[in-house]
Amino acid sequence: ADVFTYDPGFTSTASCESKITFIDGDAGILLHRGYPIDQLAEKSSFLEVCYLLLHGELPNAAEAEEFEKTITYHTMLHEQFDRFFQGFRRDAHPMAIMVGAVGALSAFYHDSTNVEDPEQRMISSHRLIAKMPTIAARAFKYFRGQPFVHPRNDLSYAENFLRMCFSVPAEDWVPNPVLTRAMDRIFILHADHEQNASTSTVRLAGSSGANPFACIAAGIACLWGPSHGGANEEALNMLKEIGTVDRIPEYVQGVKDRRYRLMGFGHRVYKNYDPRATVMQKTCHEVLAEVGHSDDPLLKVAMELEKIALSDPYFIERKLYPNVDFYSGITLRALGFPAEMFTVLFAVARTVGWIAQWKEMIEDPLQKIGRPRQIYTGAPKRDYTAISKR
Ligand code: CMC
Repeated sequence: ADVFTYDPGFTSTASCESKITFIDGDAGILLHRGYPIDQLAEKSSFLEVCYLLLHGELPNAAEAEEFEKTITYHTMLHEQFDRFFQGFRRDAHPMAIMVGAVGALSAFYHDSTNVEDPEQRMISSHRLIAKMPTIAARAFKYFRGQPFVHPRNDLSYAENFLRMCFSVPAEDWVPNPVLTRAMDRIFILHADHEQNASTSTVRLAGSSGANPFACIAAGIACLWGPSHGGANEEALNMLKEIGTVDRIPEYVQGVKDRRYRLMGFGHRVYKNYDPRATVMQKTCHEVLAEVGHSDDPLLKVAMELEKIALSDPYFIERKLYPNVDFYSGITLRALGFPAEMFTVLFAVARTVGWIAQWKEMIEDPLQKIGRPRQIYTGAPKRDYTAISKR
């Protein structure tokens, strides 16, 4: 019989070659197309990072302008989408809506099924990057029971998104620039992260030749889990549950007794620190100061929890550090989002990473349908017994 390497959780299996993102987990380094994440978060914009991930290079001024024009051109949703939204329960979790709505895009763009055509692949990529904020904002408005706000193409990507979420139709309102910059930075921090669970899901789904909207819907489904993108929602719930600094030791003891995990802590690849968490912590302080919540009790709990965990042998031995999701919840809450929207925002940002990885896979001549093998541990061959004899 064939013998296969058993690698649960793929901790030591490379599934592809990639030129998009580099991570050195021991050194806490994250590079997109060679550029360090802290520099991109500080100096770039989300749309520029999208271009970089998709095309391999930063755009020059003309390319940046053209790209922005192309993305804004595709921000609208088909009118029939409204009816689709109305089919959901009004208290549906926005991530449930995202899985359905993004998958349903393939019903609107039949040309996307032609994944062999490079031009179609690029149009689908642009459509996805452009429509994700609109779909996410609609999911949010639906969840809130408020009327949808149409995209405004004269605004930046983050500005338009915040406006669609927090404004009412026809209102002349644009978000605060500090908060807009923070939103953009949060998008940059989540744009790609090489072969994580959702990206591997997108690649695996795409390896069969499935259309990109269906593949991204599969990625969103995977992202929803609390061990992955769902961790930001869980991290905030955890901070709320702890509530006050004096309850931290008791909570940490529960983690050590393995009753639950510290959400927003630990990472499969980062065993030193998560460079995204460093930027996120800084962004968190900036946002809280801007909205006048610097004394947010949850921030106090988070900072104290981090301090206690980082000096505790349990966490030191296991190399558990705060990850990007630890401070993102408090930040997003201060921006005005409820916890149910946190993973949706992650999905909006990660779409470019998913689609860049999907394109790279299709364009790689060595890639074939993903088909892991298994170690069979079930019953040996046996004969069927009639029901009367069982
Ligand atoms: N709290 C307490 N203990 C933990 C944690 C945690 N958050 N994470 C790992 N451990 C312990 C775990 O119990 C194990 O201990 P032992 O060796 O004694 O059994 C050891 O650390 C190794 O854990 P593992 O489960 O083998 O590690 P992994 O690489 O498979 O898991 C992880 C990575 C991210 C799933 C995990 O750290 C985790 O569940 N963290 C909490 C959820 C979270 O914050 N996820 C977001 C990740 S970053 C953004 C994203 O990818 O979406």
